[in-house]
Amino acid sequence: MKKFLAMFLIGALAALSFSGCSKTQESSSAAGETTKAADKASGDLVVVGFSQVGAESDWRTANTESMKSTFTEANGYSLIFDDAQQKQENQIKAIRNFIQQDVDYIVLAPVTETGWDTVLKEAKDAGIPVIIVDRMIKVSDDSLFTAWVGSNFEKEGTDAANWLADYLKQKGKDSEDVNIVTLQGTIGSSAQIGRTNGFNKVAKEHSNWKILAQQTGEFTQAKGQEVMESFLKSYPDIDVVVAENDNMAFGAIDAIKAAGKTCGPNGDITIISFDAVSAAFDAMEAGDINVDIECNPLHGPRVAEIIKKLEAGEKVEKLQYVAEGIFPAETAAKDRVGRAY
Ligand code: AHR
Repeated sequence: MKKFLAMFLIGALAALSFSGCSKTQESSSAAGETTKAADKASGDLVVVGFSQVGAESDWRTANTESMKSTFTEANGYSLIFDDAQQKQENQIKAIRNFIQQDVDYIVLAPVTETGWDTVLKEAKDAGIPVIIVDRMIKVSDDSLFTAWVGSNFEKEGTDAANWLADYLKQKGKDSEDVNIVTLQGTIGSSAQIGRTNGFNKVAKEHSNWKILAQQTGEFTQAKGQEVMESFLKSYPDIDVVVAENDNMAFGAIDAIKAAGKTCGPNGDITIISFDAVSAAFDAMEAGDINVDIECNPLHGPRVAEIIKKLEAGEKVEKLQYVAEGIFPAETAAKDRVGRAY
């Protein structure tokens, strides 16, 4: 791990402490995080710079928690965490900071698929391996990242649509007209692109499914509610809401109830959601959501496994898809047992 640099830093730190002005102490207290310079001096912690999308959803909170509880000093890491507040420009800035700090690994949960070529080339030129987590990126050169671990978002979308087809059949409604609206995630994110495309592909096979509108709710509860309110005003006859994450589903449920309608297995409107966080299981048990397509946020240990292998000089799989389930309201109480988020 860049031993030459470590020795240089140890020397530099020693010189600084003689002058009574330690750069290490200054930056630790200012940011509340340990700097790489300190780690290099104090031992052999692996320094990981993690650029997180933001804190837009329960899923994201669980994902951040998984990363923070994995990349601890007790586990041999020093984590530099950056919250990009859903902005790609902030992620690019964070990656450049990580490069400047000469971290050992950069981990990126990308807000959108495109726009990463330049900054990842800078990381590559600096010799820092980049691990992509959760959403995918599209780059002209695959060697710009070492590995990716995350969800098969297109499969999640087709799972949702296939569940709807089976559900309508069971209800004897498979030849009636079905009016559908979609609350999409952040436009251009692979979670949005995959879920929208996967659902729409299957929808095309059903001539009686009418997709009335698809609009982004930015993966947040407030925006999901706002967009649902406008859908309800424009379309009085909505049968199905596809919410591309749980927080937008929660917002949609509030809007539906405020409009004097009902939702869930015994209601006017069928709700299909994605993520399957704990509050969504509550909503299924309360009878507000019909089904939840799982998106697993517990990536901390998976990324750590990749880093462990790279540290040992072993090869890692380039793409790792996480296995995920489908949870209908009918079995939610049983399915949620033992779940960590
Ligand atoms: O990329 C995963 C998606 O991002 C989750 O569905 C959503 O809740 C999050 O914000």
